[in-house]
Order: sequence, then C-alpha cells, then structure tokens
Amino acid sequence: MDTKNYFRILITTLSIVLIAFSYITKSESPDSHLISRFQQYLQINTAQPNPNYKPAADFILSQAKSIGLDVQVLEYVKSKPVILLTWQGKEKYLPSILLNSHIDVVPAEKEKWVHDPFLAHKDSNGDIYARGSQDMKCVGLQYLEALRNLKNRGFVPRRTIHASFVPDEEIGGHDGAEMFVGSKDFESLNVGVVLDEGLASPDENYRVFYGERSPWWLVIKAVGAPGHGSKLYDNSAMENLLKSVETIMKFRAAQFDLVKAGLAAEGEVISVNPVFMKAGTPTPTGFVMNLQPSEAEAGFDIRVSPGTNAESLEKRIAEEWAPASRNMTFQLKQKKPIKNKLGLPFMTIANHSNPWWTLLEAAILKVGGKLHKPEIFPAATDACFVRDHGVPAFGFSPMANTPILLHDHNEFLNEAEYLKGVGVYEAIIESYASYTEAVVDRDSLSEL
Ligand SMILES: *[C@@H]1O[C@H](CO)[C@@H](O)[C@H](O)[C@H]1NC(C)=O
Ligand SMILES: *[C@@H]1O[C@H](CO)[C@@H](O)[C@H](O)[C@H]1NC(C)=O
Ligand SMILES: [Zn+2]
Repeated sequence: MDTKNYFRILITTLSIVLIAFSYITKSESPDSHLISRFQQYLQINTAQPNPNYKPAADFILSQAKSIGLDVQVLEYVKSKPVILLTWQGKEKYLPSILLNSHIDVVPAEKEKWVHDPFLAHKDSNGDIYARGSQDMKCVGLQYLEALRNLKNRGFVPRRTIHASFVPDEEIGGHDGAEMFVGSKDFESLNVGVVLDEGLASPDENYRVFYGERSPWWLVIKAVGAPGHGSKLYDNSAMENLLKSVETIMKFRAAQFDLVKAGLAAEGEVISVNPVFMKAGTPTPTGFVMNLQPSEAEAGFDIRVSPGTNAESLEKRIAEEWAPASRNMTFQLKQKKPIKNKLGLPFMTIANHSNPWWTLLEAAILKVGGKLHKPEIFPAATDACFVRDHGVPAFGFSPMANTPILLHDHNEFLNEAEYLKGVGVYEAIIESYASYTEAVVDRDSLSEL
C-alpha cells in the first residue's frame, strides 16, 4: 500500500468513527427522555395559591396513557382534580398498594433563585433547579417511570397498584387527600399500604418516616391595666405576656437540648416556635412610646410528637403558659389530634413485625440503597389522612446526598439521584405487588 492510499484509508476510517461517535452522542438515551419528562412536569407552575392544576392533570394523564395505566379523574372540589391511576393485579382480593404524591408546590421568590424556579434548568453538574424538584414532583414522576419500566419488562403484578396525584397538600390537603381518603372511592380501593413523601438526606442514607407530629397553633393573650410609660406597676398586659413567653421559651430550650445532645430525633420532641407578637398602640410612624398597652398577644407553632400525652400538654398550656390567674387566655387555632379515629397514635409500625416494612427495607437494600433508622416526620403530610383510617403509610422520597431544600430558594435535585430513585421504586413496587403472603390485618400495623 502506498502512503497516499494509506492516508486515504486512515482518513476514511477516522471520519466513519467520528460520524458514528457524533451519532451516538446526539441520539437520545432513554435516560434523557426520563429527565426531560421530569423537567416538563416541573415547568408546569402549580404553586399555591393559584396552582395550574389543569395542565398538570393533562400531563399526568397523557403519561399514564402512554404507560398503559387505567385513569380516573375524581373531582371532590371543583377544579381540584385527584388523579387516580390503576394497574390491575391478578389477585383482586388482595389489598392494593397506593403510591401518593401531591401536584401542588409552595410559591417561589423568583428573584432570589439562581435559575427561574419554573424553567427546570439543568446545570453542568446535572442539578435540576425547580420548585417541586424535591417536594414532590420528583416522587410523582419516579412512580410513573418505575411503572413504565416494570410494564416494559413484562412484569405482572399480583396486587393492584394505584398511583394518586392529589391537589392542595401545601395548604393542608383538605380539598385533596382528606376528601379522597374519606371517600367511598378510596374505601373501594381496599388499600393495604401507602407510600407518600419523605425528605432529602444530605448523606448517603435514605430516610423513611413512619409517623408525623401533630400541628397545634397556639395564640395566647394577656390583658392588664394600661398605664403611663413611666409608671412601674404590677400585672400590665405586657408583663404578663412576657412572663409566659419566658416560660414557653424555657420549655422550647429543654426540648431542643434533647435534640442537640442526640438524645432524641427532631420528630420525637415537641417543637414550640414563636411566630408572631402583637401589642402596642400604633401611630402613623410606629408606636406610642409612653403608654403601656392593655392587651398583648403572641402566637406559637407547636408540633406535638406522637408519643405525647395531649391532656397533660393542654394542662401545661392552661396552667403555666396562659394562666387565667395572670389575666391570660389562649386559643388553639389548630389542634390536630394525637390519636387517630381508631384511638391509635398516627404511627405505622416500622420493624419486622410489619411485613410492609420488611419488604420496603429489603427492596431498598437490594438495589444498593442505604437507610437511616426510621423517623417521625417533623411536619405534616397527606400521610396523616391515611394513618387516620388505620392504613399503614411510609414517607419516603429517594434523595440521598442531597441538601434539604424543600420550600427553600434554589430547590434542586441531581439527575443521577433522580434516576437512581426510579430504580429504587421499581424494586419496591415489584416487591410489594408480588407479595401474596397472609392478607395482613392493616389495623394491627399502627402502634398501640
Ligand atoms: C387583671 O386585670 C385587671 C384589669 O384589667 C387588673 O386590675 C388586675 O390587676 C389583673 N390581675 C392580674 C393578676 O394580672
Ligand atoms: C415493633 O414495634 C412495635 C411498636 O413499637 C412493638 O410493640 C413491637 O414489640 C416491635 N416488634 C419487634 C419485632 O421489634
Ligand atoms: Zn410535600
């Protein structure tokens, strides 16, 4: 072969290799489709107080149809759709599995974000920035991608699998999950176990939640004789209120100390945080400074851990935090019960006496996931409505190595973590839907 020919062949070969390479890199991998579907869902602005439920519902329905799931749109409250997707199992008498997620997100202050919260921009690290990327549009679409993969693999579920997409979780869930779970529709699903949202984990271990604290919103009010700003006298409204604030803040510090010392997890203590104080006589530019007011108020967000004795906490509020003897009154603006309708705490058993726990843990470990000890969720989620009916529920959002940014600026999730989560759900759903051992008496799975 002469040199000229040699070079011609070399160049031809090289260009073929280059063309093939550019073709491979340009052609979209299945993963890029998953990511772009996630971005599409994130780009639909479902922020409270004006969530665009219609386009979000249309998107979910089109995904469900492309996967081959049965679809139902339940509208307990006008323009607030609950979307119920179903993959019928072979053994219809077995209790079903419900994968729940909420469609709405909290608002975002666009100017404080590095990327527009509704563009779902992916940066060079693969971090996808969007409101809802952690809470909890990720989970909703991961369920769907897992179901799609299982269908494509020819998996045949023994148990029926449902996925629900519900509105309004971020404003209490009353027109969403609460209506749905209280309906005949829900009853007819014969749900055996529910998966709902959890939290990101900054380390490599996933977090699972088996219960949550009950919100109590307390407002205390003091009254007392008004007086000149220069006068020293006992029992002014301000003095009475501040005595209470001091007592409450001491209680707060004691609870927080348990967490700081590692003696209790965040969800196991009663958190009390002051959220407003209201007193004084206003002027156009501020407050009257030489007058001690006759009324003063303060508000506290209290989160009561499931083990708490509600009566003794209420007694503490009445006798120490807002004593009538100090001219004080109180009001609980919200007081979610600590026990459910069956008289049980809002907790699902998270040990090997509950097969749903055993299966969940095993499925996560099987695909290489690691787990923290199960925890009490520090705030409220839709899972409280199903636990209220005695249905076991676990809060789980598969996001390890991820800072906790729900409701924060610059909420993001890395694409690799998202894709890993799809695999985790595939393993869990496959295991749950294949489980046909004893039909577990679900009411026994709440803690006594
Ligand atoms: C309660 O309020 C009244 C008048 O508003 C006042 O005279 C009295 O001293 C107050 N008592 C206490 C214990 O604060
Ligand atoms: C599981 O947890 C429940 C409730 O906390 C407890 O009563 C039971 O003894 C535990 N069982 C096992 C096997 O650890
Ligand atoms: Zn959420």
